[in-house]
Parts: sequence; structure tokens; C-alpha cells
Amino acid sequence: MIILGIETTCDETAAAVVARTEDGRGRILSNIVLSQVAEHAEFGGVVPEIAARAHVEVLDCIIAKAMAEARVRFEALDGVAAAAGPGLIGGVIVGLTTAKAIALAHDKPLIAVNHLEAHALTARLTDATAFPYCLFLASGGHTQILGVRGVGDYLRLGGTVDDAIGEAFDKTAKLLGLGYPGGPLVESQATHGDPARFALPRPMAGRQDADFSLSGLKTALRIEAEKIAPLGDQDVADLCASFQQAVVDVVRDRLRHGLRQFRSLIGAPNALVCAGGVAANAAIRAVLHRVAVEAGTMLVAPPPALCTDNGAMIAWAGAERLALGLTDALDFAPRARWPLDQVTKAAPLPSS
Ligand code: KG4
Ligand code: ZN
Repeated sequence: MIILGIETTCDETAAAVVARTEDGRGRILSNIVLSQVAEHAEFGGVVPEIAARAHVEVLDCIIAKAMAEARVRFEALDGVAAAAGPGLIGGVIVGLTTAKAIALAHDKPLIAVNHLEAHALTARLTDATAFPYCLFLASGGHTQILGVRGVGDYLRLGGTVDDAIGEAFDKTAKLLGLGYPGGPLVESQATHGDPARFALPRPMAGRQDADFSLSGLKTALRIEAEKIAPLGDQDVADLCASFQQAVVDVVRDRLRHGLRQFRSLIGAPNALVCAGGVAANAAIRAVLHRVAVEAGTMLVAPPPALCTDNGAMIAWAGAERLALGLTDALDFAPRARWPLDQVTKAAPLPSS
């Protein structure tokens, strides 16, 4: 089965063609991602209106490129998948409407994919990971621990009550004048900083649930920075290292609880899987590996390019759903909000 996947929920315009064999193996035939980082950098974050316009301008081209690189014609597709949410609604409308037009013109089934479900299923494309597994999804917009029991069968074990982890990295970078997106910049500063110089809190550590809270950490960092302003280069590096160490400690503690909950509610996980841009952070990957081994399982970490937003994950989620006979009507409504635990095996019909 060959599927085209389209991703436009945030600041990446992406399209990919993915093949799935009868026995459930995946192969990426093309994967084109155009980042809008340059368009948003001067604003220090994603501007929804700019994002939507940029998607409109380039999406047709990106799809044509993905099809050409895969050497596949529209007639040869078995389905067209697009991220139908959650995300910035203007962008979601662009991608989903384009997918509907292609599906209608070429008489192909449409698969309206939940963006989070696509992150959740990526490990099956890259590593053929068997269900059930525990997912740690951490990006600029999401921080969740989930039990992945099957396609359309997710159990939320924990999540952030305020900021996402990537958002906290981005805000830290902005506060310290490092630029956008902040994650990689904070990580590189942290490599030559002292993680023990500032005593920052470890919010939620020790609690029995698996929830996160990042906003107190961000405030504590600002207070420490204000105390020693003006900041020298070493101060910035030490603040970054202390912040990253606090996040690493929180991730370790929260995932230990998440995996414990997984075991009692679902059983033994086949893996701990990470997804989302934050999973590109080497210190976080290292702690995830330790937590997985400690819990008697292993870490599956897809390559960073497939952890961040891309079209291949949308195409693959579309293929997994289509293989189960799950398709969507052409009037499927785009969704700004669409929690993963509300994704069901049969996608609910739009309410009106
Ligand atoms: O998954 P993603 O590409 O986009 C969405 O947010 O959906 O994730 C981007 C987020 C940004 O907040 C970025 O700062 C963060 O992931 N990030 C990192 C690193 N690389 C990207 N955070 C920490 N360390 C990194 N190396
Ligand atoms: Zn994402």
C-alpha cells in the first residue's frame, strides 16, 4: 500500500510518500520538509497567520516534490492522509483541504490523521515496535506520557498542566537572549555550563501521578537571572546547564512514575518510545535510556528528523489506519484541539 502524507499543523510544511507491506513493514519513499523557522525567528515564536500563508504558498510544490522523488503518480496511491489536528487551525485547514482535493480528484480514500497519533506510531515505521509500548511525547506544543495499546487505542498516563517542555526551552532561550528555536541553543550552551550552580526546583518530583509542570521552573530561572544581571557568557552557560539538569531530573522522575502506571494498568511495555523535537536533546535521550533499562525495557528513539514534525509520520499513520479499513469522509472537519485519548478506532463523525 502506498500513501501520501501531508503535515501543516505548525511551522513545518511537509509531504511524504510511504509504502507499507502486507506484514506491516514500512518504507519511506520520499520525505520533504520545509521549515518556516526563518519566517518566525524575528518574532521569537510561531505566528499563526504567517504560518498559514506560508503553507498555502509552498504546499503544492512540496507535494509535487515528494511525489517526484518517490517516483509515484497520484493514480498509484492507495490513500491520501493529512494531519487534521490538533494544531494551528489556519495551517490545518490548508493541509486537510489540499488532501481532500487530491482524494476527490483521483478517487482515493482520505485518512484524517491526528498529529499526535502520527508521533505515537512513528516507532512502528522506524523500528517495527510491537504494541503495547509507553510513549514520551515532548515537543513545543505537547508533553505527554501515553500507553499505546494499538492503532486508535491510547491511554493518557500523564501530561503537562502548564507549559510544554519544548516551550520551556524556547522561553529560557528567549529570556537569555539566545534566539529561536531555543532547544538546540540551550543544549549547546549547557555543554560548557555548571549544572549545579543554580538551585532550581524540580516541579512535581515525587508525586504519585505522571504529570509535569514547567512554569515554576521558568519563573525560578528568571529570578536567578535577574539576581546576577547583567549576565556574562559563563552565567548564561551555567543558567542553561542548571535549567537542562532540572528538566532531565524531572523527566527521570515523571517517567519512572509513568512506567509504573503503565505496568499496573497495561502490563509490561515492549519499549519506551520517544517522539517530538525535545527527544533530539542528548541529555534527555541519555536519561530516557537509563529509565527504560531500569524499568526492564528498552528505549526506541527514532532518528531526530522523524521525531520532529514531518510528512512520513502522517503517511505512516494513514497507512496503519487504512490497513484496518479506517477512512474518513470528505467533510471531516479540521480540529484545533483533538486530544489523543479521544482518537478512537472509528474516527467520530463531525458533529455538524
Ligand atoms: O516536534 P517539534 O519539531 O515541533 C512541535 O512543537 O510540534 O518540536 C519543536 C520543539 C521546540 O520547542 C524546540 O525548542 C524543541 O522541540 N527542541 C529541543 C531540542 N531540539 C528541539 N529541546 C531541547 N533540546 C533540543 N536539542
Ligand atoms: Zn509535532
